[in-house]
Amino acid sequence: MQHRSLRRFHPIESPLPPPIPPSPPFMSTVVCATPTSLSAGPWGLYAASGDDLTRLSSSLLAQVGVLMNNAAVLTRGTSWEGLDNWRKVFDVNVFGVLNVQHAFVPSMLHQENPAVIINTGSKQGITNPPGNPSYNATKAAVKSLTESLSHQLRETAHANLTAHLLIPGWTWTGMTGANSGGKEKPQGAWTAQETVLYMLDKVRQGKFYIVCPDNETRREVDQLRIMWGAGDVAEGRPALSRWHRDYKAIFEEYVRDGLASLD
Ligand SMILES: NC(=O)c1ccc[n+]([C@@H]2O[C@H](COP(=O)([O-])OP(=O)(O)OC[C@H]3O[C@@H](n4cnc5c(N)ncnc54)[C@H](OP(=O)(O)O)[C@@H]3O)[C@@H](O)[C@H]2O)c1
Repeated sequence: MQHRSLRRFHPIESPLPPPIPPSPPFMSTVVCATPTSLSAGPWGLYAASGDDLTRLSSSLLAQVGVLMNNAAVLTRGTSWEGLDNWRKVFDVNVFGVLNVQHAFVPSMLHQENPAVIINTGSKQGITNPPGNPSYNATKAAVKSLTESLSHQLRETAHANLTAHLLIPGWTWTGMTGANSGGKEKPQGAWTAQETVLYMLDKVRQGKFYIVCPDNETRREVDQLRIMWGAGDVAEGRPALSRWHRDYKAIFEEYVRDGLASLD
């Protein structure tokens, strides 16, 4: 894994509010697996080695209230080329999350105060659009491991800890071009602040799946796309039929009809 050194970030000069739900009282530390625009908080740490993380976790004096696993990289390539890139993207996007979970969850299980773990997934980990097979596969893994974490926490007696899966919409960040010099946010994208505020609201409501809309894709469209993807499996259509030439028109009609039935 490409380990980066463990870094402590001082309280960030950020336009974002720290992601601390006001109620119940989270009198504790906020740990962000990466201090990105989607996760600004008083503490940030890089997806360092498991040992470094365990040392950090046991050296914390305060209880951890919010643990956010947000680091990710996006690599391109095909399903049969660039094995090194596949390893890199799994190391950061999947083992980064697992390193943090393994270092922090054992002690968080015994905390007195309630706490939350938020892992950042992606719609691409659910609907699997063509173009970034490695990234999609990592985000599908994050969805799966966060679902399992949520279930296991629910079944663990006295655990005052819940897991949540953040599924951002199109958000204007480094990953989507915000750092490439003077470009304006596209109208369709949300700002990182909008995404974080939406996430906090849903965490407060106790939601596990936090599927964020954006200015281009409304919630109902996401719902229909997700159900169509599940229908590929349940109904035996070809993989990724949404982008299959024989099914594209049927999919579009399905979305049109679905939206019309809501109006
Ligand atoms: N923006 C979107 O539209 C969107 C949509 C769906 C999901 N997401 C997810 O949202 C999360 C945040 O991404 P973002 O949009 O805020 O993009 P971003 O600005 O590129 O943030 C990604 C962060 O991951 C960090 N990172 C990369 N490699 C790392 C490593 N080895 N160890 C630790 N940190 C590492 C980067 O740090 P450096 O800058 O120091 O490299 C960067 O801060 C990601 O999980 C992404 O998959 C974003």
